[in-house]
Amino acid sequence: MLSVGIITASDKGARGEREDISGRTIAEVLNGLGEVRHYVVVPDEQALLSKEIINMVDNIKVDLVLTTGGTGFAPRDVTPEATLAVIDRQVPGIPEAMRAKSLGLTPRAMLSRAVAGIRGRSLIINLPGSPKGVKECLEVVLPVLEHGLAILK
Ligand code: MTE
Repeated sequence: MLSVGIITASDKGARGEREDISGRTIAEVLNGLGEVRHYVVVPDEQALLSKEIINMVDNIKVDLVLTTGGTGFAPRDVTPEATLAVIDRQVPGIPEAMRAKSLGLTPRAMLSRAVAGIRGRSLIINLPGSPKGVKECLEVVLPVLEHGLAILK
């Protein structure tokens, strides 16, 4: 079973003004494949998001970090930048596959700037913010996660 960290990037969520359905959706979609070891809601601040990714990978040592939210065009959408700042290697095929699948469902998929990458022996993947987007994108990558992470160890 993969150990997983979930980071919800949301100003409103961090202020307690919005229930985090997307974070919960990740846990539901992972059902059976991953165990959620750590879960946080962080405001849309690049430094805080980067710090949390580092904490989950270097200290908690999860296999997989899944972020939700902050990948669009809003001025405070900085999750991809926070991710790029702390990964060693990009994995372009993952966001490519998520967008390819999602474009058949909504043209707005092209508005996601999500990235994925490797830090140490962990994989970090950005997912969109909506529960629907989380489910649609996570289902694309689930079938390859175990193999990808096995190679990384
Ligand atoms: N991808 C899928 N599969 N389904 C969706 O509903 N929403 C899109 C896109 N990707 C969506 C999706 C929309 S509307 C936006 S603005 C971007 O993701 C970025 O979302 P975020 O800023 O919440 O991360």
